[in-house]
Amino acid sequence: MSSYKLNVRTLAAALALLALPAIGFAADAKENWKNQCAKCHSADGSGKTAMGKKLKTKDYTDAKVQESFKDEELLNDINQGVTKEGKKLMPGYKDKLSADETKALVDLIRSFKK
Ligand code: HEC
Repeated sequence: MSSYKLNVRTLAAALALLALPAIGFAADAKENWKNQCAKCHSADGSGKTAMGKKLKTKDYTDAKVQESFKDEELLNDINQGVTKEGKKLMPGYKDKLSADETKALVDLIRSFKK
């Protein structure tokens, strides 16, 4: 009987964890950005990391940079990755991120604008 109670509790805890991502896309996108994108694009999107300088990532805090691309272009680049002169600069994320997560990342990138 006591092990049954424990299982119910474990199940309740697991369900609570499952419900967490529903709280908001913003938190999700920030988490994804931190874990998968920030090492090149930097936490604030300015691209001022050692890796970003080497790869010449753009400064997303710059309004002119923001104006230079459409949302669809950003979406496409996140999905397909970026290749320049035959060199893979950024991997594609279409197998790693859902369509919603990718869209949320585009919104996050837009929010870096100063
Ligand atoms: C290995 C380093 C690296 C990682 C990791 C990386 N990027 Fe990039 N990303 C780049 C480089 C380099 C470019 C091309 C910059 C340019 O336009 O010349 C780029 C381009 C982009 C572009 C197209 C707009 C632009 O700046 O030209 C978007 C959007 C983008 N990255 C988003 C992301 C997101 C979102 C993630 C995480 C899911 C991510 N990147 C992870 C290096 C990276």
